Amino acid sequence: MSDAALFSLDGEDVPFEPGETILQAARRAGRYIPHLCWHPDFAPHGSCRICTVKAGGRMVAACTVKAAPGLEVESDTEELNAQRKTLLQMLFIEGNHFCPSCEKSGNCLLQATAYEMGMEGPHFEEFYPARPLDASHPDILLDFDRCILCELCVRASREVDGKNIFAIAGHGIRTHLVVNSESGMLRDTDMAATDRAASICPVGVILPKRRGFVIPIGQRRYDEGTAADADRQEAS
Ligand code: SF4
Ligand code: FES
Repeated sequence: MSDAALFSLDGEDVPFEPGETILQAARRAGRYIPHLCWHPDFAPHGSCRICTVKAGGRMVAACTVKAAPGLEVESDTEELNAQRKTLLQMLFIEGNHFCPSCEKSGNCLLQATAYEMGMEGPHFEEFYPARPLDASHPDILLDFDRCILCELCVRASREVDGKNIFAIAGHGIRTHLVVNSESGMLRDTDMAATDRAASICPVGVILPKRRGFVIPIGQRRYDEGTAADADRQEAS
């Protein structure tokens, strides 16, 4: 392999293919860069900033910036991990993320990433939003208070299901997920439980009805390994 196809990640050489982002190449090399809004099946969105790394001295989102020959990237540093922890704390206080009563607990990427980063408490004042649940659909429940605005459901519905069921609306702190139907209710869409959008949510917003708490403790996705372990496993 020629030097032209290598960049450095925390001091170690990582090979990359033309067009690959820092995150993609790192992942292929078995190196974990924390991420929430990125998913291997979809174009990057660049909204959560958890994947922020220092590349060539600049703070960039590893999921959107392409790897380049000789680029020096720092990711697993005290400074960057502290920033990630703060971003996670902000996500936790902006929504109602009460893990002990959430059926996504143990299978939730937000929770697993917070564990990974050693987040012990939110440390900021909670917002306690009160966004109404949408339980109108026969098979799918929406709990908007847990949404981290990653747009994975928006992308999955549009790009895979060809349906355009979800959208993000509003500005600033009022930014929120909406259902694209005249009533705004999920029952008035053609969403099906088998849609990709029904199973893509990394947190506990889009949930199948009548299936809560079915996986025993100890067998949930992040019970055995960390977010990093699960990511490496998925990438291999
Ligand atoms: S509902 Fe889930 S997948 Fe959709 S934007 Fe919110 S967190 Fe992301
Ligand atoms: S994973 Fe890169 S910004 Fe969210």
